[in-house]
Amino acid sequence: MTTDTQTRPSLLPDAHVDAARYDQMYAASIADPDAFWGEQGKRIDWIKPYTKVKNTSFGPGDVHIKWYEDGTLNVAANCIDRHLATRGDQTAIIFEPDEPTDPAQHITYNQLAENVGRFANVLKELGVRKGDRVVIYLPMIPEAAYAMLACARIGAVHSIVFAGFSPDALAARMNGCEAKLVITSDGAPRGGRVTELKDNVNKAMLHVTHDAKCLVVKRTGQQVAWVQDRDVWYDDIAARVSSDCPPEEMNAEDPLFILYTSGSTGQPKGVVHTTGGYLVYASLTHQMTFDYKDGDIFWCTADVGWVTGHSYIVYGPLANGAITLMFEGVPTYPDAGRFWAVCEKHKVNQFYTAPTAIRALMGKGPDYVNKYDLSSLKLLGSVGEPINPEAWNWYNTHVGKGRCPIVDTWWQTETGGHMMTPLPGAHELKPGAAQKPFFGVKPLVLEPTSGEVIEGNGVEGVLVLADSWPGQMRTVWGDHDRFVKTYFSDYKGYYFSGDGCRRDADGDYWITGRVDDVINVSGHRMGTAEVESALVAHEAVSEAAVVGYPHPIKGQGIYCYVTLMADETPTDELKKKLSDWVREEIGPIAKPDVIQWAPGLPKTRSGKIMRRILRKIAENDFGSLGDTSTLADPSVVDELIANRAKQ
Ligand code: PRX
Repeated sequence: MTTDTQTRPSLLPDAHVDAARYDQMYAASIADPDAFWGEQGKRIDWIKPYTKVKNTSFGPGDVHIKWYEDGTLNVAANCIDRHLATRGDQTAIIFEPDEPTDPAQHITYNQLAENVGRFANVLKELGVRKGDRVVIYLPMIPEAAYAMLACARIGAVHSIVFAGFSPDALAARMNGCEAKLVITSDGAPRGGRVTELKDNVNKAMLHVTHDAKCLVVKRTGQQVAWVQDRDVWYDDIAARVSSDCPPEEMNAEDPLFILYTSGSTGQPKGVVHTTGGYLVYASLTHQMTFDYKDGDIFWCTADVGWVTGHSYIVYGPLANGAITLMFEGVPTYPDAGRFWAVCEKHKVNQFYTAPTAIRALMGKGPDYVNKYDLSSLKLLGSVGEPINPEAWNWYNTHVGKGRCPIVDTWWQTETGGHMMTPLPGAHELKPGAAQKPFFGVKPLVLEPTSGEVIEGNGVEGVLVLADSWPGQMRTVWGDHDRFVKTYFSDYKGYYFSGDGCRRDADGDYWITGRVDDVINVSGHRMGTAEVESALVAHEAVSEAAVVGYPHPIKGQGIYCYVTLMADETPTDELKKKLSDWVREEIGPIAKPDVIQWAPGLPKTRSGKIMRRILRKIAENDFGSLGDTSTLADPSVVDELIANRAKQ
């Protein structure tokens, strides 16, 4: 048995930001956001410089968010062209494939320029123009980054759909943004198995309600079913187009991408990020939070299908001229040492992952870590959910060897970049705390019911943000009212994060988790409503209610209460069928962990399901069910409790 090192990592010496500089910069960012962000905006190149910096309102009434609104730029030019003179031959992307025996690739900035330019011309050949939407459904291969940057180069708006999502989910997103094109590959190798991506697209296309083409990148070389006039091989067009594609001049507020994410109600919404403010924010946070220095090798293990991959695999690092690692595989293939093998092989300096991965690897024992040389590591990061102390300690002891600061970064798809995190040269770490607001971020703790601001330290409530920052989402694609309603109507004049938080005696922030009907499963965000609607779409199901419950590895598991149609018999076989059904409807990440038959659901007299009670039952916490007397039929609770034991 190895005992945990109790050593807390010291602050990084010579960091971009030390404690005094943090205090000074933070104060300046809050006192005069125009001056602060006006200065920070200069970190990227503008075609036409901005004269206005901030033009934002959180209401009540009009909600609008604009940054650098009269400036023009191109994101791809910022991520590629401007580095060519100084670092054309430096590696931009290290690609580590799924199979450890397959060669890794080092793609230089010069090569990136060529690949992205050619990809952009392929898109043009297919008729994609400025403002058109392009869905990307690819494995974690360099072409995913090329496709994103190619869209940015010609002013098309990309929307990446995680390759683990089902054909139905893909079709819904393609319809949602009326994508003109979907970019996919024949197959996607992952963990030694292959996902049939092109097949999934074929199925999705049956439900796409407008004309769309399909561009296919060759990854596995497998046979795929083909639809003439709709499907095209990337290689066929790439062979005849040039790699020279001038960047389109974009307004700072033109959309850069749409990313669908789950909320507490309805279907996933298209979060819209724009060009100028997003890039400034992604690039600044990448440099400061990870203390990125020239030549460092940075590895964010997320998938580009999530916002973390957008901001910290592609846009933030490349805007900074960094070396960014893209990993196609999974942490446990060929064994639970893969992450550490890759860190050793590529001499990774900053490593950024999710608590769920740490917990899964922790369960396999420290030998998998200890056999690798991790001396290149300088800093570790965590994202996606609160990191529990056991996981933090293990990460610190076995991976960081007690010497790498761990930045626990709290943020969201909506925020574009880090919102709260300790900075590694400035803040003594507290395991499990996101600690400090980033520059320009103004967190407030509100009393949940009254919405009153809770002042002082040692307090808890819901977390809102009092003012805008450049990386903030601008709207929900095609539905600005939904944007206003979702984020600005519960607590007037503030952006509501959906998270609860505590401000401790020292004024440090701790995120306590979602306070709405969003659950966090293995760092993947899911609306309980989505799983419910998948369940009730099955002919055997009359009603369903879904809640999260504590899960040792996933953080939260998916607990489903299902009421069957009167003529259905509750069997284990049917449970399995329903579970597979949800998996098919949404994707493997939504597969229920527990299905409990519920002859009735606890409802108020007005018919509202009392999820609070269902959550407690799922947690096996029957002592604090609260007042059940307002229920239409309180006896259903006893029945659910009696059945709980059988799960
Ligand atoms: O509940 C918070 C949790 O993840 C939610 C955002 O999920 P998503 O939009 O998918 O983005 C994930 C990656 C940025 C938040 O509302 N969350 C994210 N990071 C943390 C966290 N909770 C606690 N600590 C974190 N570091």
